[in-house]
Amino acid sequence: MDYLQLQGSQSLKGKIKISGAKNASLPLIAMTILANNNVKICNLPHVADINTLLKLLTNLGASCDRTNDSIYVDTSKLNETKATYDIVKTMRASILVLGPLLARFGHCEVSLPGGCAIGQRPVDLHLKALEQMGANIEIKNGYIEATAPNGLKGCDIVFDKITVTGTANIVMAAALAHGKTTITNAAREPEVVQLCKVLNESGIKIQGIGTAFLSVRGTAGKLIDIVNFSVIPDRIEAGTYLCAGAITNSKLTITNTDPSHLGAVIAKLEEMGFCINSTKNTITINPTKTIKPVKIVTREYPAFPTDMQAQFMALATQANGVSIIEERLFENRFMHVSELQRMGADISLNGHTATINGKSKLSATDVMATDLRASSALVLAALVATGETNIHRIYHLDRGYDSLEKKLEGVGAKIKRLKE
Ligand code: UD1
Repeated sequence: MDYLQLQGSQSLKGKIKISGAKNASLPLIAMTILANNNVKICNLPHVADINTLLKLLTNLGASCDRTNDSIYVDTSKLNETKATYDIVKTMRASILVLGPLLARFGHCEVSLPGGCAIGQRPVDLHLKALEQMGANIEIKNGYIEATAPNGLKGCDIVFDKITVTGTANIVMAAALAHGKTTITNAAREPEVVQLCKVLNESGIKIQGIGTAFLSVRGTAGKLIDIVNFSVIPDRIEAGTYLCAGAITNSKLTITNTDPSHLGAVIAKLEEMGFCINSTKNTITINPTKTIKPVKIVTREYPAFPTDMQAQFMALATQANGVSIIEERLFENRFMHVSELQRMGADISLNGHTATINGKSKLSATDVMATDLRASSALVLAALVATGETNIHRIYHLDRGYDSLEKKLEGVGAKIKRLKE
């Protein structure tokens, strides 16, 4: 197993190029199940979660031809409709094949994803919406067995909670359904917006893109010709490297990014005293005299993303004063706290709220990554800790960060990937 070794107290300098967004790529790859053609996707990140989904599609009979950042996905020979436990257990987002498989074949089986490190994360809203569209859903032996022999029917869906993959799943199902589906309380994340835009450009009439009310006109089962497209930049990767600049109080420029997707993150960095300069596709963070404490509440887009919560908690340990971070989306997303405490952070937890008393002098030690974003918080803390930090179980990081150690090394971090 690999681990990362970092020498702390480094100052960073230079540019980091952002890769394509993992969370946009996943629904876009699942979307190829709806295609009539061989679909070309550009700017695909090199991360383990993408490989997991491609493996799932290959198991179902698709062929995937990847060269560097581009891939052709051909689902014309799909002949299997069962997403098995061995794959789904490694990545919850595998649930994204449920909507498109059911819409195309009228039946499928997808293993129930179950809980994960950051909480219970049910898929009840996905299932309820598909039932409303006429699907018969049964849970048997840990699998979701879905059937809709006469196809799915458009209807009016109101999500009780805003769900990102739930919205993506239902938009994809609705694309091949009979008639019109409306979704009230839809997710507005840029990743959902890109899925809707690509489907729209491929001939599916979708109204309300980027709003909480979507209306999708289905093809009544006819597969679609999907246009070539390039995945949007990863806003969470960009936000993480902005935090690397912030925590080391260095000047860093993030390139190949979209600042319009990072409004809430940039606003919080500015509140903490950093001067941020953006162009159309770059963001530069500049050092500040004093890092100020911050108050953060995680919410759905366009508010502050839960996927940036752990990184800001690491950053808040270096602020002068008391920061408060409230996690509203997931019940157990504070796994990084105990590891940060072991490095010397002064953090107290009360339910969904963390109080961070800065500034703490962090010291290096052996720490363990627990989930994807928690792991990046440990990398950030290690950048300023005195001494050598070893971060174990970095397979969590590899799920979502493309070449993290190379990108950080490129701006002067002393970071090595080693074998246990
Ligand atoms: C997606 C992102 C993840 C991010 C999260 C919130 C992907 C692949 N993952 O996850 O990185 O942290 O959005 O921005 O895009 N819920 C239910 N029932 C459901 C579905 C969701 O109760 O059927 C709850 C969840 O437990 C959670 C909240 O709704 O509390 C939001 O979850 P959701 O938006 O669905 O997260 P994901 O799509 O899994």
